[in-house]
Amino acid sequence: MRWHANSDDLTRDANADRDCFLSSAVAIGDADSKIFGADLDAARVATASKRLKGSRIVVADCNGWPFPKVEDVFSIADFDSYSDPYASFRAFWKNANKANRLVLLFTDGHRQAIKRKGEHIDFDNTHHNHLDIAQRRVIYNTYYPRFVKPVFVKHIRPDWRIVKDMMYLRRDMLYWGCVIERN
Ligand SMILES: C[S@@+](CC[C@H](N)C(=O)[O-])C[C@H]1O[C@@H](n2cnc3c(N)ncnc32)[C@H](O)[C@@H]1O
Repeated sequence: MRWHANSDDLTRDANADRDCFLSSAVAIGDADSKIFGADLDAARVATASKRLKGSRIVVADCNGWPFPKVEDVFSIADFDSYSDPYASFRAFWKNANKANRLVLLFTDGHRQAIKRKGEHIDFDNTHHNHLDIAQRRVIYNTYYPRFVKPVFVKHIRPDWRIVKDMMYLRRDMLYWGCVIERN
């Protein structure tokens, strides 16, 4: 599968031959895992299905959980690059069977709207609009440590904890991932 830069350490830590969920279909396969993926775009789904033999890639809205009848246990999930990856994460979190050690990867483009429109959609989907310049700067410049990670930690508590997390910024984009474990 396509891993974002810097995620190798995370995947090395993970339980490699369990199942994997990709929210919005991605490109390269991991032969030992069963791969589930979903995207709204039928052409991308067709391409991914062709490239990832034995995978289950479907056209679906990842704001909800696309695999309600799947009993498999997931050990890796990649929430890739669309306007709100955390909607997909929340649906996955609520519905998927999860391994005790889990690798999660996120591509988060929210800083673009924070900077350009003064609009912040936070982790739990609360919308903050009409932010002034000072507010935009604070959120933009301290986005991951102050506005993403603490809310994520709160979301997975009390049953889970972060073992390791990594992030990097490329322009407005935030790429981050973590290994979490059940307590
Ligand atoms: C930047 S592309 C990334 C595609 C793919 N992960 C890749 O690496 O090639 C973002 C994708 O998110 C998909 N998308 C946007 N909103 C979605 C939603 N609610 N549910 C599922 N897919 C969505 C788009 O169709 C688009 O293919």
